[in-house]
Amino acid sequence: MTTTLAGKIRAYRVSAGLLFLFCFFCLSFSSAYAEDGAKIFKQNCAVCHRLDGQILTGPGLAGVAQRVPSDDWMFKWIKDNNALRKSGDAYANGIRAKYDNKDMTVFNGVISDEDIKAVIAYIKNPPPPTVAKGPEGGGDATKGGGQAGSGEGAASTTNMYFILAGVLVLLLILAMVLRGVKYNLLNVIARSKKEEQIVDKGWWCETKYWLVNHKRTIAALVIILFLWLGKLAWYGMMDIGVYTGYHPEQPIKFSHKIHAGDNAINCEYCHSTVEKSRHAGIPSPNICMNCHKGISSGATTGTAEIAKIYDAIGWDPKTMTYDSTKAKGIKWVKVHNLQDFVFFSHQQHVKVGKVDCANCHGDVKSMTTAQQVMPMTMGWCIDCHRKTEVAGMKDNPYYEELHKKLAEKYKGQKITVDKMGGIECAKCHY
Ligand code: HEC
Ligand code: HEC
Ligand code: HEC
Ligand code: HEC
Ligand code: HEC
Ligand code: HEC
Repeated sequence: MTTTLAGKIRAYRVSAGLLFLFCFFCLSFSSAYAEDGAKIFKQNCAVCHRLDGQILTGPGLAGVAQRVPSDDWMFKWIKDNNALRKSGDAYANGIRAKYDNKDMTVFNGVISDEDIKAVIAYIKNPPPPTVAKGPEGGGDATKGGGQAGSGEGAASTTNMYFILAGVLVLLLILAMVLRGVKYNLLNVIARSKKEEQIVDKGWWCETKYWLVNHKRTIAALVIILFLWLGKLAWYGMMDIGVYTGYHPEQPIKFSHKIHAGDNAINCEYCHSTVEKSRHAGIPSPNICMNCHKGISSGATTGTAEIAKIYDAIGWDPKTMTYDSTKAKGIKWVKVHNLQDFVFFSHQQHVKVGKVDCANCHGDVKSMTTAQQVMPMTMGWCIDCHRKTEVAGMKDNPYYEELHKKLAEKYKGQKITVDKMGGIECAKCHY
C-alpha cells in the first residue's frame, strides 16, 4: 500500500513537471509568434506600409482588418494580389484603382503561409505608436513619424517574463503544499500500520538529498538552461542596433523625391561609386553644380537652400566665379551606420548580386528626407541571404567557377546566398 502511494506521489510530481514544461513551451512559442509578425512586417511590408493612417506607397494599415472583406481575403491578397485581382475580386480591384494602380509585391514563395498568418496577426494588433529615435527632420512632416522601432517587441517579451515568473512562483507554492500533504498521508498510513511516524526533516534537507541522488537529471536541466540562454543571446545579437526610421536633419534640405523621383535622375549619377566599391558615396558639391549653376531656385524652398550649395563651394552667382578659399564643403549627416566590425560591399550586392537599391533602402524616390527603412541588423542580412537566389548563375564572370561547382552540388535546388557561404561569420566580420 505504501509503495503504491509513494508511486502515486511520484506520478504527481512527474505530471507537475510536465505541466511546467508545457506552460513554458506554450509561452515561448506564443511570444516567438508575435515577435515574428513584427519582424516579418519590418522586413517585407514596412517599405510601403505604415501601421498608422499614413500613406507611403501603400495605404496605412491601421484598422485594415475592419476594412477588408475578411481575414481570409487578407491572406489571399498578401500571398498573391495579382491572382486575387484576376479572379475578379471586387474589393481587390477597387483598392488597386484607388492607389493609382501601384503594384504590391507578390509574396507567394517569398514568405511562407505561416509568416503571412503571423504578419496578419501582427497587423491586427499593432503596437502602440513609438516616437522617432532620430532628431526630428526639420521641414519634413510626411515621412517624419518614426517607424516603430525595436521597442514594440521588448514590451511583449517583458510581459512574457512576468507571466513566466508568476507561473514559477505558483508551482513552488503548489510543491510546498503537496509536500505537506505527502507527509500527512504517509503518517496516516504509518499510524494505521502502527509503525513509527515519519519525521519531516524540512524541505532544504530533503532538496539536498534529492540533488545528490539525481545528478543526471540536474546535468540535463543545466544543459537545457544553457542552450536556452544561448538562444536568447543569439537572438539578442541578431537585433542589436535597430535604427529603422532614423532620418536626421541635413545641412541642406536635399530631397530625393525632387531629384530621383520627379526629375528621374539615376541613383548612380550621384552615388557614382555604388557599382565600383564598398561605398555608394555621397556626391560632392561639384556634382550638384552640374545642374545648379543654372537652377538657382526651387519650387518649395526658393533660393534659400540652393544658396547653401553656392556657399559651400564658394560660388558667387552674381559674378559667376568660384573662390576656392571660401569653399567649406557640406557636412551631410550619415543616415546608415553599420558598426566598424561589419564588412558590407555595395559592389557585391548591386553589381554582382543585382540587388535593387529599394530592397535595402526602400522607396527612396518618394523620400523628402533620406531615411533608414530596414533594420540593418545581422538578422536582417542573414535572413535575406537565406532567401535570395544568387543572380545570374549562368552569366556571371565574377564567380563563374564557383557558380558552376555550386550548380552541380545543389542540382535542382535553388542556390541561395547562404549556400555559397553567405552566412559564414568571416564573410561579414573581420
Ligand atoms: C512595394 C510596395 C508594397 C509592399 C512591399 C507591400 N504592399 Fe501591401 N499594398 C501596396 C499597395 C500599393 C496597396 C494598395 C493596392 C494596390 O495598389 O495594389 C497595398 C494594399 C495592401 C492591403 C490592403 C489595404 C486596404 O486598405 O485594403 C493589405 C492588407 C496589404 N497591402 C498588406 C501588406 C502586407 C502584409 C505586406 C507585407 C507582407 C505588404 N502589404 C507589402 C504596396 C505594398
Ligand atoms: C542628385 C543627387 C542624388 C541622386 C540622384 C540620388 N541621391 Fe541619394 N543622396 C544624395 C545626397 C546629397 C545624400 C546625402 C544627404 C541625405 O542623406 O539626404 C544622399 C543620401 C542617400 C542615402 C542615405 C545615405 C546615408 O547617409 O546613409 C541613401 C540610402 C540614398 N541616398 C539612396 C539613393 C537612391 C537609392 C537613389 C536613386 C533612387 C538616390 N539616392 C539618388 C544625392 C542623390
Ligand atoms: C543589400 C543591401 C543594399 C543594397 C542593395 C544597397 N544598399 Fe546602400 N547601403 C546598405 C548598407 C547596409 C549601408 C550602410 C553601410 C555602412 O554604414 O557602412 C548602405 C549605405 C548607403 C549609402 C551611404 C553611403 C555609403 O556608401 O555608406 C548610400 C548613399 C547608399 N547606400 C546608396 C545606395 C544605392 C544608390 C543603391 C542602389 C544602386 C544601394 N545603396 C543599394 C545596403 C544596401
Ligand atoms: C541632374 C541635375 C541636378 C543635380 C545633379 C542636382 N540637382 Fe538639385 N535640383 C534639380 C532640379 C531639376 C530641381 C528642381 C527645381 C525646381 O523646383 O524647379 C532641383 C532642386 C533642388 C533644390 C530645391 C528644392 C525645392 O523644391 O525648393 C535643392 C535644395 C537642391 N536641388 C539641392 C541639390 C543638391 C544639394 C545637389 C547635390 C547633392 C543637387 N541638388 C543636385 C536638379 C539637380
Ligand atoms: C536584399 C537581400 C540582401 C541583403 C539585405 C543583404 N545581402 Fe548580402 N548578399 C545578397 C546577395 C544576393 C549576395 C550574392 C551576391 C553574389 O552573387 O555574389 C550577397 C552577398 C554578400 C556577401 C558575399 C558573400 C560571399 O559568399 O561572397 C557578403 C559579405 C554580404 N552579402 C554581406 C551582407 C551584409 C553585411 C548585409 C547586411 C548589412 C547584407 N549582406 C545584406 C543579398 C543581400
Ligand atoms: C551576412 C552578414 C553577417 C554574418 C554572416 C554574420 N554577421 Fe554578425 N553582424 C552582422 C551585422 C550587420 C551586425 C550588426 C551591426 C550593427 O548593428 O551595426 C552584426 C553583429 C554581430 C555581433 C554583435 C556585436 C555588437 O555588440 O554589436 C556579434 C557578436 C556577431 N555579429 C557575431 C557573429 C557570428 C559569431 C557570426 C557567425 C555565426 C556572424 N556574426 C555572422 C552581419 C553578419
